[in-house]
Amino acid sequence: MKIAIVFDSITQNTKTVAEAICQALPQTDVVYCGAPASGIDADCYLVGSWTDKGMCSDKIKSFLETLHHKTVAYFATAGFGGSASYYEKLFERVSAVIPKDNLLASPFFCQGKMPMSVRDRYVQLMTAHPEDRSLAVSIQNFDEALAHPNGEDLQNARDWAKEVVEQAQTIG
Ligand SMILES: Cc1cc2nc3c(=O)[nH]c(=O)nc-3n(C[C@H](O)[C@H](O)[C@H](O)COP(=O)(O)O)c2cc1C
Repeated sequence: MKIAIVFDSITQNTKTVAEAICQALPQTDVVYCGAPASGIDADCYLVGSWTDKGMCSDKIKSFLETLHHKTVAYFATAGFGGSASYYEKLFERVSAVIPKDNLLASPFFCQGKMPMSVRDRYVQLMTAHPEDRSLAVSIQNFDEALAHPNGEDLQNARDWAKEVVEQAQTIG
């Protein structure tokens, strides 16, 4: 079973998860671990993205659209959430762009820290709109995200990847 780990990461969160996944899988089976590119030949694709405006990145969307008759497993980091329902919504949007002839595995999500400029903007907005309680929630979420991906996230990602590959091998 040839495995490719294809990811897009701007601030390293998704890259950190991708590298943990890569190390957890049999090195003889991993044929690629890197950015989206043409000519990657694998049976099982673990495709990772940062979350951009409620969707995967454009690069990952374009890559996913090229996959046919493969096992595809999606993983992502997201600034918001930590909530299963938010992750479900994100996956619904992403899975809609994956061609239906692929075998789609359950996804993996974890939180990923955001740039400090995002927090600064929330603080500015809170000063201008003290009545907006959602801003305090956003700041709290931002602060929680600062610790992620953490060791537990990486271990969960490794376990998820091993399970995906084992299942793909069983079916294949
Ligand atoms: C322009 C931009 C848009 C973002 N949109 C979302 C979003 O809609 N939902 C979310 O949960 N996180 C969002 N984030 C947060 C990132 O997805 C998150 O920090 C992620 O872990 C970054 O991954 P990376 O370090 O691999 O680039 C956004 C970040 C940026 C910079």
